[in-house]
Parts: sequence; structure tokens; C-alpha cells
Amino acid sequence: MSHDHEPHEFVLTDVLESRWSPRAFDREEVLDEKRLGPAFEAARWSPSSGNSQPWSFVVGFRGDEVFTTIVATMASGNQVWAEHAAVVVANIASVVDAEGNPQSHAIYDLGQAVAHFTVQATAEGLMVHQMSGFDAQALGRELGIESSQRVVTLMAVGSLGDPADLPEKLQEREAKPRVRKGLSEIVGGSAHYA
Ligand SMILES: Cc1cc2nc3c(=O)[nH]c(=O)nc-3n(C[C@H](O)[C@H](O)[C@H](O)COP(=O)(O)O)c2cc1C
Repeated sequence: MSHDHEPHEFVLTDVLESRWSPRAFDREEVLDEKRLGPAFEAARWSPSSGNSQPWSFVVGFRGDEVFTTIVATMASGNQVWAEHAAVVVANIASVVDAEGNPQSHAIYDLGQAVAHFTVQATAEGLMVHQMSGFDAQALGRELGIESSQRVVTLMAVGSLGDPADLPEKLQEREAKPRVRKGLSEIVGGSAHYA
């Protein structure tokens, strides 16, 4: 389902047109590895510097221990809606390589893998809402990740729910049209957009 937004300057492919980040997730939905598989496959096949693939993902299904651990580290403003999603995921970057050298591109590569996940998930009829509002150090400790790794972001994943279930303030935010800077503000050099 597409969300209200400012007019696009150019037409997007359907899956990008329909992607947005909801807070209202289906509270009854149960997802499994098979349903999430295509999205993780897309992340797996995303490009990375030197094919280093410096990403990993820790998945929690609503009600299980991993889910509870991840949700507990979220900022309360995220907890209030994300705890109802069928799935939460911790997105982890390997910021130091096997030789102990910093992988300066790791966060960029992880972001790209998450973008691919998001697009494929949308094509599968799922919605994804990424978050940086959480205690990354606490979650890293809880999950027992290596010192060479960093939890960079979280994702809530599931089908769209009923916005009426959200607290009033979030209902307002949920209904707001999506906005963006114009192309002329973000693209320069020899390319000129109105
Ligand atoms: C790295 C990153 C961190 C984000 N952190 C949060 C967050 O903590 N809480 C939240 O509600 N949304 C968060 N978002 C979602 C953005 O607010 C959202 O993508 C942006 O407003 C654009 O809306 P759209 O995804 O619907 O196009 C985050 C998105 C990204 C990519």
C-alpha cells in the first residue's frame, strides 16, 4: 500500500513507490524463516567493498527471547510501536577485518544490504521500519557480539496494521504525507534539475 507523499519528480518502480516506514504493524501476524528468506537473500546478494560482506543479522520473532532482548534496548518512543511487529532484527557491521584493520566501508555496506532487504521485503508484501533509537552498546553486550562488530541499526518487519491501535500522537505522525528535499538540492555537478 502506498503512503501519501509529495509528488514524485520522476516515476518510480512499483516496489519503491510502495515502500514506506509504518509504525502500525499487524499485531497478530506470525512470520517465519521462509517468509523472511527472500529479503535476507537480497541482503546477502547486495554489493560490498571487495565482496567483504561485513554484515550479519540477529532475528527475533515476537514473543521469543531474542525479540524481547532487542525491544528492551529500544528508546521508549520506538518500543511503543515496534514491540507489536512480528519480527525485529539487529543489523550488525563488522567494522574491523580479520587482520585487525578498520573496515571503513562496513557501515555503508551494511546500509546497502539493509536497503536491499527492505526492497525485497516490500516486494513480498512486508513493511520494514529501520531504527537508530536504541542502546547499541547494551544490545551488543546482550547479544554477545565480537568487539570487531557493531550493532548499527534495528528493523521492525511485518505486515501493515491498523493505525487506530497506535497512541494518538503516533496516529497523527502515521498519517502525515512523506516529504523529501528536491532533486535540485541533492544533485549537482553537470546535472541540473528544476
Ligand atoms: C538509519 C535510520 C535510523 C532511523 N531511526 C528511526 C528511529 O529510531 N525511529 C523511527 O521511528 N524511525 C526511524 N527511522 C525511519 C525514518 O524516520 C524514515 O525512514 C524517514 O522518516 C523517511 O520515511 P519513509 O521511510 O517512510 O520514507 C530511521 C531510518 C533510518 C534509515
